Amino acid sequence: MALDLDPGLGAVGNPALVKAIIEEMDGGAIPFERFMELALYHPEHGYYRKPGRIGTGGDFLTSPAIHPMFGWAAGAWCEWVWEGLGRPSPFTIIEPGAGEGALATSLLDWAEGRGGDFGEALRYVAIEPNARGSDTRIEWRDEAPPVAEAGIVLSNELFDALPVRLFEVEGRGPVEVWVRWDGEAFVEARGSIATIDGAPAAGRFEVNGRAHATMLAMCDLIERGAVLTFDYGYPEEELWADWRTQGTLLCFHRHTAHEDPYRHVGEQDLTAHVNLSELELAMELAGFTAFAPVTQAAFLTEAGLSSLVESVRDDLPEYFARRRAFQQLTDAAGLGRIRVLAGTRGVEGVPPGFKGTA
Ligand SMILES: C[S@@+](CC[C@H](N)C(=O)[O-])C[C@H]1O[C@@H](n2cnc3c(N)ncnc32)[C@H](O)[C@@H]1O
Repeated sequence: MALDLDPGLGAVGNPALVKAIIEEMDGGAIPFERFMELALYHPEHGYYRKPGRIGTGGDFLTSPAIHPMFGWAAGAWCEWVWEGLGRPSPFTIIEPGAGEGALATSLLDWAEGRGGDFGEALRYVAIEPNARGSDTRIEWRDEAPPVAEAGIVLSNELFDALPVRLFEVEGRGPVEVWVRWDGEAFVEARGSIATIDGAPAAGRFEVNGRAHATMLAMCDLIERGAVLTFDYGYPEEELWADWRTQGTLLCFHRHTAHEDPYRHVGEQDLTAHVNLSELELAMELAGFTAFAPVTQAAFLTEAGLSSLVESVRDDLPEYFARRRAFQQLTDAAGLGRIRVLAGTRGVEGVPPGFKGTA
């Protein structure tokens, strides 16, 4: 006798989340942006509510998870800004979207390990409304802290994790993609037609309606200092180039990338590349001097990361670990193509890593 093997909603993803999304749809449809928001950030069942999503045992790797060297380089960059501000104390690093704190921990270890005034002055605030870490040196917050007099706002892969609006160009222009439940699966529905300046003439594209406001809010967190942002993205003309007809939305499930957001719902990461022109503009609107984005590979190379590899030649296991990490962090087909964007306020000169763009 054959058994009834139907997995029910579990075939689509996390059953509790799928059920919650279907309930919110209430027999109708919701914009893709809302679908993505629920999939990633539903208050109980969203993907990011559960720890362990990032790393070899999770679904994807971010730079801080590769090796602490990434945090050491970020630490040295922050120390440069601190020097430029006249060595203020306290000096606050605020990290929105800190995840479980890998970047914060490696940066704080670096500063502590060196000893001295920078480490003494440092205060680290992580803004993370979802699964967070346990490093007690970090001040964990759900929401923005009060404005810091001097400091840095640092983020890694925050913007590419924000929910995006999805559009498909039809004969008369871009039409917003909505999502409905057909009884067995989430399927796309046609939303309303939109007018979007400079949008691609064909295919699919995304609009991140939250990025600009998020960058403005980040700039407002400090009076003097810098914003340093690492994210997958392109300047607008590259992001919306004619040849890019399928947009940049990607899903990551157990280290496999694919393009179907309606599978593994709540059990996979969803991400879309960021419009860097928009972020630069927001920095300038906030009164910062913005420096044109550079690749992570160029940034880390100019920062001298290779010297950290060479400095441990007499410890072969560590040497090989660092050499491999350096390759991964600067890989032009992987993490190395992440763009780094910086803006400063009250700091003289071009920050390290951006000399080539000045
Ligand atoms: C791709 S993960 C990156 C985590 C970490 N920065 C890293 O590099 O490993 C994106 C993180 O941003 C957080 N996040 C999303 N929206 C946020 C917001 N509005 N404010 C603060 N954090 C947010 C998510 O909870 C998640 O931890």
